[in-house]
Amino acid sequence: MIPWTPALPLLTERLELRVHHASDVDDMLQFRSDPEVVRYVPWPVSTRADVEQALEKRLNAGRVDAVGDWLILAIVLRETGQVIGEVLLKNSGEDAAELGYALHRSFHGKGLAREAAEAMLDLGIRELGLRRITAELDERNTASAALLERLGFTLARRYPEEFKGEQCWALEYELLVD
Ligand SMILES: CC(C)(COP(=O)(O)OP(=O)(O)OC[C@H]1O[C@@H](n2cnc3c(N)ncnc32)[C@H](O)[C@@H]1OP(=O)(O)O)[C@@H](O)C(=O)NCCC(=O)NCCS
Repeated sequence: MIPWTPALPLLTERLELRVHHASDVDDMLQFRSDPEVVRYVPWPVSTRADVEQALEKRLNAGRVDAVGDWLILAIVLRETGQVIGEVLLKNSGEDAAELGYALHRSFHGKGLAREAAEAMLDLGIRELGLRRITAELDERNTASAALLERLGFTLARRYPEEFKGEQCWALEYELLVD
């Protein structure tokens, strides 16, 4: 169903999920320039100019008007106001969507990605009426697979893919809503 015009921001115990602001550039550069964080996501190891370009697309990504477009929210640590990552949901048509996320390395291992993903899934299922949510990842991205399994996703497909100039195996996980 489109358009998606969710009520934002979403608040969780430790996080605020909101539309990006132009002033997010310094915080975003911190994790987008980290080779470990971008290794399995489509972004390059980013320069400030790359981040500014990515940010421009995100300023209006709090609503989705077309199939194939992404709802993209900044993950903000409520305690400090720092943007520590982003969580995304692509409209895949009908009542399906694809989930994505990335977090600054200093904030891994604290359950924060899970907290952000759960809020996004709750929005998708309760407010947007999603019945099938997928996630695609490089088979070597074990942290992401573990997160998906904690969220209740199951492995649906394994397929060969070329990613960042390298032949690899990709996995598709899915979450079906009863
Ligand atoms: C994928 C990614 C988001 C996972 O982040 P994460 O921090 O491991 O995920 P979670 O938020 O679920 O945190 C889980 C860990 O926090 C721990 N934790 C600590 N406090 C917690 C709490 N209050 N609640 C839940 N878990 C908690 C868990 O025990 C778990 O630790 P473990 O991994 O040692 O078992 C992160 O690795 C990342 O940003 N990677 C780079 C970008 C990327 O690859 N994105 C995905 C592309 S497909």
